[in-house]
Amino acid sequence: EKGGFEHFMIKEIFEQPKAIRDTLSCRVADDGKSVKFDELNWSPEDVNSIGKIMITACGTAYHAGLLAKYFIEKLARIPVEVDIASEYRYRDPLTDSKTLCIIISQSGETIDTLAALKEAKRRGARSLAITNVVGSSISREADQVVYTWAGPEIAVASTKAYTTQLVALLLLALYMGRLNGQLSAEKETEILQDLQKVPEQCQYIFDHADDVKQLAEKFKNKEDVFFIGRSMDYGLAMEGALKLKEISYIHAEAYAGGELKHGTLALIVDGVPVIALATQRDVEEKMISNIKEVKARNAQVVGVVQDDDTEVAKTVDYIIKIPKSDNFVMPVMTVIPLQLLAYYAAVVRGNDVDKPRNLAKSVTVE
Ligand code: F6R
Repeated sequence: EKGGFEHFMIKEIFEQPKAIRDTLSCRVADDGKSVKFDELNWSPEDVNSIGKIMITACGTAYHAGLLAKYFIEKLARIPVEVDIASEYRYRDPLTDSKTLCIIISQSGETIDTLAALKEAKRRGARSLAITNVVGSSISREADQVVYTWAGPEIAVASTKAYTTQLVALLLLALYMGRLNGQLSAEKETEILQDLQKVPEQCQYIFDHADDVKQLAEKFKNKEDVFFIGRSMDYGLAMEGALKLKEISYIHAEAYAGGELKHGTLALIVDGVPVIALATQRDVEEKMISNIKEVKARNAQVVGVVQDDDTEVAKTVDYIIKIPKSDNFVMPVMTVIPLQLLAYYAAVVRGNDVDKPRNLAKSVTVE
C-alpha cells in the first residue's frame, strides 16, 4: 500500500504533482486562462459584500492560512485575519455578517477548528471550508466547501494536504480579485499559467532530493535549527520548522528575517544551521542582509532560492534551487525541500516517521 516507498510520508511528498494537478484542473476554464469555481458560483456582489475575511485553522492548515493572507490581501485587496482555531474561540472575535470565515482542515474533523466554525456562524458570518475529506464534519457544517483533491493522507505529518490548500487558496484569491475588479485578467492568467506548470516543475526538486538528504545527514545531531524568511517565505519558514520538530524531534524555530536582530541573533552561534528562504524577489536584498547577519556569527546557512539566483548563492554555505515561478506560486514548490529535510532527518535519526511520538492524525480532543 506504500507503493514501493519506505514510508507513507515520502510517498505522499512524491504524490504532490498529482494532488496539485487534481486540485487545479477542475478549477481552470477550458482555455486555461481564468479561474472558475463551479461549487461557489459567486457574483461580484457576493465578493463586494465581504467586509473582512477570518481564516481559522490549526497547525499546518494554519500555516496555509498565513500564506492565504498574502494571496487575498495582495490580489483581492480584502483585509484578512488569520487565527489559530483554539485562540479564535475564546477571544470574543470581531466577527459579524460582513465576515467571511474560511476554515482550513485536511481531515475536516479537528475539534477546535469545528468549534471555531460554529462560533463564527453563531456570530452571523458566512462560512467556507477548505477540506480534503468529503462528508467530514467541517464540510457538513460550513455554508460552502472547496475540496482539496489530495487523496487520502496517511502520514501524521501533513504534506500534500498543505500544498493543495495553498493551491486552493491561491485560486480563491484570484477568483475574488477578478470578481471585485482588483485584479486584471492578464495578471490572473499569468499566475494561473505558472501554477499549471508546477506539477511538472516538481520533478526538478525530486531529482535533487539527494542533496537535501545529505544536508539532513550533516545536521542530524544538531539541537536547534532556525528557519528565516520574509513575506510569504516567513509563513513557509513556520511550516518548515513545524515539520522538522514534528518528526525529527530537532528543535526548530522560524523567524521573520527582519526580526532576528530583536533578540534571536543571541542564539545564532558557531555551526547553528539556518535555513534561509529567499525565493521572494521583492525582498531578496533584505534577505541577503539577514543572511550576512547570521553568517557573521558563523551559522551554517542553507539558501533556498529561485533557480536563476546568483546573489544569495554568494553568501551561503549550501544552496537549494527551486524552479522559477511567479512570487505567489513559489511557496507551493518551496515547501517541498523543507518536507524532505524533515523526512530525511527523521529517517537518519531512526524515528517512526509516519507516527511521530505523542501525535495523532486527527485531533478530536480539545
Ligand atoms: C502537522 C499536522 C497538523 C495538522 C493539524 C490540523 O504536520 O499535520 O499540524 O495540520 O492538526 O489538522 P487538520 O488539517 O486535519 O484540521
